[in-house]
Amino acid sequence: MGKRIGILTSGGDCPGLNAVIRGVAKAAYELMDDVEIVGISDGYRGLIQGEYHLMKRSDFSGILTLGGTILGTSRQPFKLMRVVGDDNVDKVKNMKANYKKMKLDCLLILGGNGTHKTAALLAEEGLNVIGLPKTIDNDLYGTDVTFGFHSALAIATDALDKLHTTAASHGRVMVVELMGNKSGWLTLYAGIAGGADVILLPEMPYDIDKVAKAVSNRANAGKAFSIIAVAEGAMDKEEAKMKRKERIAARTAAGYKTVSDKIADLVEQKTGCETRVVIPGHLQRGGNPTPYDRLLSTRFGAYAARLIKEKKYGVTVAMKNDVITENNLSEIAGKAKLVNPDSQMVQVAKDMGISFGL
Ligand code: F6P
Repeated sequence: MGKRIGILTSGGDCPGLNAVIRGVAKAAYELMDDVEIVGISDGYRGLIQGEYHLMKRSDFSGILTLGGTILGTSRQPFKLMRVVGDDNVDKVKNMKANYKKMKLDCLLILGGNGTHKTAALLAEEGLNVIGLPKTIDNDLYGTDVTFGFHSALAIATDALDKLHTTAASHGRVMVVELMGNKSGWLTLYAGIAGGADVILLPEMPYDIDKVAKAVSNRANAGKAFSIIAVAEGAMDKEEAKMKRKERIAARTAAGYKTVSDKIADLVEQKTGCETRVVIPGHLQRGGNPTPYDRLLSTRFGAYAARLIKEKKYGVTVAMKNDVITENNLSEIAGKAKLVNPDSQMVQVAKDMGISFGL
């Protein structure tokens, strides 16, 4: 019996999406007969609006190393999925109707936390859904790693490496803001791999005086420069008592656009050291997947094809202790995997003399 498989990529893009799409397709063609793959445009937007096309085998060639997503993506907030807006579109109803119209046996959904919440909703609504864990933030619950994370890590680490030489030449403090609003995996890993002196994470609210002290201690020891790696969602102890919106409002009222602006200004005031802010931003999501991510994406994709063959739906692919496996969507949706301040990785950083501003 043939299989008709729908695929969509949703949320922020990252290197590895195409490698997963290719992994699913190649393995599906290999494992099953009469496979047809329908590509849905721009994530849930295409599913809601019925924008899709039947893909050819050749569409999956030459994309292993290609960054971004050949299907396009968009952000469709989960909290609005069941809300019928001014456009009068019942999004859930449309998605179910288009799934039927496409005559799908199953729908593969590549995405991060928000995407998985909607994937779980669609599974609850009776669609045959398989999730695949994507995000440079690495904060999807139930998997040791998400695809895209290692590629972003390579870029963020390279940024820190490059900033080291200019920081050292000028004797400056570089405040480098890395992506990660709710979780600091990227900043923690890049900070250690890139030899940062201070690492500031959303999970570990900092004391700015302790950050300044770490910089002054280095200056007093003859090291005129410092690198501060800060996650975009990092916050000080006072800000940690506020809701996200209040925190941003308070920062804006104080004249700061970002957390890194605030840190750089206060560190300069407190230490007298010249500071600069660098925000690599979306560069962290660009370019080719690293070999690690190509391998991981291929493993995830091929595993998803096996799940399709076994008709195992309502799950998302995961990696646990280097073994590819799956979790029930209902058990992981809405949960985040955050950095544990008591973890071995944080301890390693502390043992290396890295300050967390605590
Ligand atoms: O979720 C991935 C991510 O890159 C976050 O690290 C970042 O906060 C966000 O997406 C940026 O989103 P956008 O691409 O919509 O600006």
